[in-house]
Amino acid sequence: MVAAQEALAAGVGASMLRKGGNAVDAAVATCFALAVTLPQAGNLGGGGFLVLWLPQAEAKHPLVPAVSIGRGQAVALNFRETAPLAVRPELFLQADGSVDRAKATRSLLSTGVPGTVAGLTLAQARYGRLPLKDVMAPAIQLAERGFPVGVDLAASLASAAPLLKADPSSRRQFFKAGGVPYRPGEILRQGDLARSLRRIAGQGAPGFYAGPVARALEGLMVQRGGLIRSADLAAYRARWQAPLHGRFRGYPVVTMPPPSGGGITLLQLLNVLEPLKLDATGANSAATIHRLVEAMNLAYRDRNRLLGDPDHVAMPLEQLQSQAYATLQRSRLDLNRHRPAAQLEADPTALGGGSNTTHVSVADRQGGLVAVTTTLNGAYGNGISVPGAGFLLNNELDDFSLKPGSANGYGLVQGAVNAIAPGRRPLSSMTPTLVFRPSGEPLLATGSPGGSRIITTVLQVLLNRLVFGLNLASSVAAPRIHSQLWPDQISIEEGLSPDTRRLLEAMGHKLVTVPAMGSANSVEVLPAKGVPVGPGVVSRPTLSGGSLGVADPRRRDAAAVAEQP
Ligand code: GLY
Repeated sequence: MVAAQEALAAGVGASMLRKGGNAVDAAVATCFALAVTLPQAGNLGGGGFLVLWLPQAEAKHPLVPAVSIGRGQAVALNFRETAPLAVRPELFLQADGSVDRAKATRSLLSTGVPGTVAGLTLAQARYGRLPLKDVMAPAIQLAERGFPVGVDLAASLASAAPLLKADPSSRRQFFKAGGVPYRPGEILRQGDLARSLRRIAGQGAPGFYAGPVARALEGLMVQRGGLIRSADLAAYRARWQAPLHGRFRGYPVVTMPPPSGGGITLLQLLNVLEPLKLDATGANSAATIHRLVEAMNLAYRDRNRLLGDPDHVAMPLEQLQSQAYATLQRSRLDLNRHRPAAQLEADPTALGGGSNTTHVSVADRQGGLVAVTTTLNGAYGNGISVPGAGFLLNNELDDFSLKPGSANGYGLVQGAVNAIAPGRRPLSSMTPTLVFRPSGEPLLATGSPGGSRIITTVLQVLLNRLVFGLNLASSVAAPRIHSQLWPDQISIEEGLSPDTRRLLEAMGHKLVTVPAMGSANSVEVLPAKGVPVGPGVVSRPTLSGGSLGVADPRRRDAAAVAEQP
């Protein structure tokens, strides 16, 4: 079962399962296909995180730090973009000391050394069953022969036209002759991208980090004032890391460690919320939302002050994940009244922000699970494509704290711990997450795009499923809320009742209705008939094993595709 933000790519993943591939083959094939069919977020020129669980026989590898769960092992792969060696913080500042937002998001300066190709090829080589060329063949075909543009992509290309048309290569790649936008159903071919994919399929990561693709990327950087050079590309490595491992109401939860700020923040939130009897206050009631928001604000304060790249900064992860700390944080919650952000931390400068990233969840027949989130940061990254190589570049360096104390594109006000420096990886919110039954058997994989809203999206999917007993589809679809300390407001999707809103306002909250948040494509491994799912979750009597996929209905091109059609 594969759930992804674009249907053709999800189908590609399912076809790998049919061929005898495992969850890793399917996830990697889907991600390469998304680089073709979902150019706003799928990518070769970005980065991401992957968390997987496989049964022992497939998972064992002595060099990879792993966590044992039940009859298998979980590992985490960091293929986050890296700041180029030539980076200097002052490159992003204007004469008055403020961050130049255009440089931080729309220029070649904003691009980190891409990690996606290194990450996907490494995961596949280590844990996949199929040859890389088979796993990549469908993506090459989609790029070469073209595919019918989906409704979401057509709308997204039209709204990104000013960004993409400013770059001659992007204009040629994503628009018809004369700059005319594609309509839904029209065929988009990407010949240059197909050639790059073919090189990677033939040579693995060196097909991207050396040779013609690397030369095209460096040539663009030299010509137009970017920082990435061949030495940056040659030095890039994806890294295995021990995943973070917590427990919520008896369910083991495995998630991404820093430089994801998502995993540790998610675990902190689960720890703080666990004893609060949210099942009594109920899903999306004012009382529940108030508890979530107050806990979110405390957790984001820690995220923004304390977290960064583990290769460069020390972080109190054990303390943040401890029950003692959760008890302390819980004691700071006022269950009746909103505590204004300024009382927690004086910095009212944050802005709101858009986001684009994409998440894929896969379950295979053995219960193997993959959650992988990849990103260009903004939709279409900085909008600049590598001439002749056919892929867009990320603007991930804006995820650093370019000027500690000032807001980035997601309104996150972060500290010096996430300052930009050569060779560092910026703190992320991507939160690919796996949950297991109390017995250790795999239960679900989830994650989401959404920038700073990723963490709270994943939290709500888990609470809906594990506390409120909603099925997976309802857990993903339910209206979401988000709070991140600054701006001092609750972002809410449409769908909260007027009386809930009134009760929240009476507790001192400011509510702002925002467009749909996240795209939490998720899968669940179903228990064999009669096996209880676990405490707090309704066990459906008709289930007889297999898996369930849910494509988040917030994105129209998304789909969950089963191995058996
Ligand atoms: N670029 C969004 C994130 O990594 O959080």
